[in-house]
Amino acid sequence: MVESLAAGVEWRPPEATAPGFAPLHRRGRLLGHVRHQGADEEADTAAAIAAWRQDRPAHLPGWLRRPLADAEAMLAASRRMMEALLEGAPLEALLDAPDVAARLQGDSQGGLQGGLQDGGTARFALVAASDEEHDAQAIGKAWFDAETGDGVAEDLWCKASWLSFHEADASLRFRFSFGMEGFEDVAADPGRELLAGELAARVFPESRLLTGHAPTRALARELAGGQPAFVERIIYFNAPEGGAQFHHDVERGHDGVIYAQLTGRTFWLACDKQALMDEIAAFVADAPDARWNELRALTRDRAALAALMNEADHEPVEALVDREPAFIGRMVERGHAFWLEPGDALLLPQRDLEHCVWHTVFCLDDEPGEALSFAIRAL
Ligand SMILES: [Fe+2]
Repeated sequence: MVESLAAGVEWRPPEATAPGFAPLHRRGRLLGHVRHQGADEEADTAAAIAAWRQDRPAHLPGWLRRPLADAEAMLAASRRMMEALLEGAPLEALLDAPDVAARLQGDSQGGLQGGLQDGGTARFALVAASDEEHDAQAIGKAWFDAETGDGVAEDLWCKASWLSFHEADASLRFRFSFGMEGFEDVAADPGRELLAGELAARVFPESRLLTGHAPTRALARELAGGQPAFVERIIYFNAPEGGAQFHHDVERGHDGVIYAQLTGRTFWLACDKQALMDEIAAFVADAPDARWNELRALTRDRAALAALMNEADHEPVEALVDREPAFIGRMVERGHAFWLEPGDALLLPQRDLEHCVWHTVFCLDDEPGEALSFAIRAL
């Protein structure tokens, strides 16, 4: 197995560890080791906009470095909330803590300038909590009403979920949305979408590091082709042995996602679905291994492979892209790897099911790191 060096990332197979390399552990598997060799790069927004229009991911190194310098107290508070949840505190109790409750009531907005979003005057009331027994990955869900000048918006929620069922993986996320999960056409109700975004900013004021950041707003305006909104917000804590498996984030009415690493470091593989299918086909064509026979057959019918990847269960693909070290090495070599430090951002365009950036994330540290993942749309 060859070592890979591309895009400032060097990869070595599981059996070949070396000083300075971080292990890629996920859900009980060691998938290799990586090292970052990048210099101090500058974010190139023109290149990022061009990449977005071609359904390619773009790394923005140091994008939030400056605003992040003042965010230590906020991030420490969110970390305590995450740790309390890990220790079994009910989500609704954490959201009813005095500091959070005060922000929900609009008494304090976290000290960062808002802009169109996140400077709102809505008052949020925690009205119910559910343990989401139908969803094994759910930790809990809290429901809110928002009182605005125009009336009351109902059924906004914050949901905390595990990223996997693996006992060593403490990765979790807080997602903010509204209505019936999985059924709602969220893009069709921009009013409640914006309020769910505002709710995220009240619970996690570090949201404004992105939404109140003038360069991000200018960039998002370009990407969305109009007045941008940051919706379907997720606050991630990617933990050792965790992170997300390969997936896309396509949702009708949304153009793509901006991910910002706030604490800790993550390693990513990300590329357009079409490029990922090319890599899968090339890998299994070269591999003599009978393990890939089913996938090899599938790659001879590109439409069938594309359709399978759209299914929730696409195990023949997962076995390769999520669990085969040599495939990860290939992806690094082919330039699909990214290394994110605190303050870095990553753009993940999501045009439609056939043209969208698939991505997978690994935690590189011994403890969870925090990140923001917001969908971008034009209002
Ligand atoms: Fe994602």
